[in-house]
Amino acid sequence: MKYGRPTRILHALIAIGISLELLLSLVMKTPRPGRVFTPLQSFGYEAHKMVGMAVLVVLFLHWIVFVTGHAYKGIGHFFPWFSKARTHVVLSDIRELLELKVADPEQMDSFSGAIEGLGFVAGSILAASGAVLFFGIAENGVMSAAIHSVKDFHEFWGPVMWGYLGIHAGATMVHIGLGHRSILSIFRW
Ligand code: HEM
Ligand code: HEM
Repeated sequence: MKYGRPTRILHALIAIGISLELLLSLVMKTPRPGRVFTPLQSFGYEAHKMVGMAVLVVLFLHWIVFVTGHAYKGIGHFFPWFSKARTHVVLSDIRELLELKVADPEQMDSFSGAIEGLGFVAGSILAASGAVLFFGIAENGVMSAAIHSVKDFHEFWGPVMWGYLGIHAGATMVHIGLGHRSILSIFRW
């Protein structure tokens, strides 16, 4: 099995949790003094707060898997940018992709590992800034200027996460279409 059980469980929780957060962000409305909400808008905001804090915990546990050396192929597989040799392999994967060569991820996964690392960082930035908002925005929506800047920062990373999810899930579909069944090992219990 390519990924260990802890990674498979944590990935499932992250995939469901972050996808849910993105969907909730489409319907929710942040409280503001004097603002009237539909039940869906207030439920969306409360659910976004709670699911977001749960995802923060799951991402933290996954960071422990990374830094304790238990990740598949090691932390350098997901963050290759600090090694010349690893960056070289990522660039060679990109060259092959530009020639429309998409090999089975069992043989060619350096570029995908690097992208997954970046997506993971984007999710962590959203969850960490969301935690600041969790404690910084009052029930009636009042917030300081500093917390308002954190909210702007948080909103900036939303479209980045959508983009990552589109590319990551899209690449999964392409591999399935090409018959690379090994890609599905992350979903096996
Ligand atoms: C937006 C939230 C997501 C993030 C941050 C994320 C991140 C990751 C990471 C870091 C890995 C490497 C395994 C690990 O260490 O966990 C991975 C693998 C994988 N993810 Fe996701 N993922 C997300 C959502 C999804 C979704 C919704 C799908 C469903 C299409 C998916 C499909 C896969 C597949 C198939 C692999 C295995 C890739 C391979 O074996 O080369 N992920 N993902
Ligand atoms: C993994 C965790 C989280 C993810 C992936 C996430 C994702 C998002 C996304 C995609 C948006 C929409 C950005 C846009 O305008 O395009 C958003 C907005 C927002 N999020 Fe989060 N979020 C997370 C956690 C949290 C938490 C814990 C809070 C706590 C209060 C929070 C509060 C907010 C607020 C206040 C907005 C602005 C909504 C508005 O006024 O339109 N988020 N979030």
